Amino acid sequence: MKETHGTGSMLPRRQDYGMNRGAAARSGSLLKFRSAVSSLSVRRSSAVLPSVLTFLVIVASGGLLLMIEKGMLNSMETPSPRGDRRRLDFIREAGKRSADEVEAEWQILHEIRNRTIRTMCSQKNMPHSVWSLSPPQRKIVLQHILVNDEYRFLYCYVPKVACSNWKRVLKVLSGTLESVDVNIKMDHHSDLLFLSSLKPEEISYRLKHYFKFMFVREPMERLLSAYRNKFGEIESYQKKYGVEIIKRYRKGHAKDSSITGDDVTFAEFVRYLLDEDVERMNDHWMPMYNLCQPCAVSYDFIGSQENLESDAEFVLQRIGAPPDVHFPERQTWYKPVTTVTLHYYLCSLPQKLLRELLPKYILDFSLFTYPFPNTTTEHCQH
Ligand SMILES: *[C@@H]1O[C@H](CO)[C@@H](O)[C@H](O)[C@H]1NC(C)=O
Ligand SMILES: *[C@@H]1O[C@H](CO)[C@@H](O)[C@H](O)[C@H]1NC(C)=O
Repeated sequence: MKETHGTGSMLPRRQDYGMNRGAAARSGSLLKFRSAVSSLSVRRSSAVLPSVLTFLVIVASGGLLLMIEKGMLNSMETPSPRGDRRRLDFIREAGKRSADEVEAEWQILHEIRNRTIRTMCSQKNMPHSVWSLSPPQRKIVLQHILVNDEYRFLYCYVPKVACSNWKRVLKVLSGTLESVDVNIKMDHHSDLLFLSSLKPEEISYRLKHYFKFMFVREPMERLLSAYRNKFGEIESYQKKYGVEIIKRYRKGHAKDSSITGDDVTFAEFVRYLLDEDVERMNDHWMPMYNLCQPCAVSYDFIGSQENLESDAEFVLQRIGAPPDVHFPERQTWYKPVTTVTLHYYLCSLPQKLLRELLPKYILDFSLFTYPFPNTTTEHCQH
């Protein structure tokens, strides 16, 4: 047996103080949810309805979480920022705060995410095991879970959330890659063991006994990152999806054969997402919920892009990785989505599209405790 830690175990000391945005953003999120839910248009697609109902249950149980959160934050005398301005102050402040305070924030964030998931997933209509999922749903999740038998862990990968770097780590741990820093293009399939390739009893054993983790990211930031990468840079996506999107959504181009698909606008991309069934989406924009099924699989740890360094280090420690295995630095070509960029793209979307888009990702927002983006006219004028 490897050494085990509870959720209350110590946070690795090496950390990035500026990244604690999740904790800062949460206050008031439930209030935002409530107004967002009441303005939802649920008529558009019947597929939206079950998730909205589920979500209302969460909002009801969420009041308690909010109180717990506030109580805990107040008793620690840390600022509880609401708007973006204050959030920035908070991040600046963070540089001055002690490691203990940062660690306490980190624990609260994980505790809240943990309780939210437990509360939501205990609802009757939620799946409680991978075997209770429909076969297509099960196929998706099993194809996204990577296995390491030596260190006894399962990692569910979400594209656009540091997944290439985790795959590098897995290859190093299994001895097929020399170092995480080797300068090669990641092959996303070779030398990796997917849970879907095992027999049912082998799958069940690993789900029961192994350490299971996944990493999440602010849902709209992930979408924007996928949009900019795929439609801006990758020709195969422009051909496969771009051409179709423009034919469908750009007036007068339905029969245009000269379309190259390399200039899809974000609004056209969003229109396309609204018409797609979440279970049939490409995995770069499929909701994280559908990729990893956090109710059917009880993850031991859910890290986030916002706390990538400290969360990754926690996982490496927890699985007992050798000390020379570290989480890779960001790739040089990596273009982060900044708050300003996200604000720009979301605010330039027609309000109607945005109001319909958010419900589609409602489980990602609510389960992983991300507040809905503030896209009021007032906020967007800044
Ligand atoms: C939630 O908390 C329980 C009990 O402390 C723990 O066993 C579990 O690993 C935690 N899960 C997550 C996702 O943090
Ligand atoms: C959105 O931002 C505006 C202006 O920045 C602010 O007044 C408003 O309270 C915010 N709304 C929510 C729901 O946070």
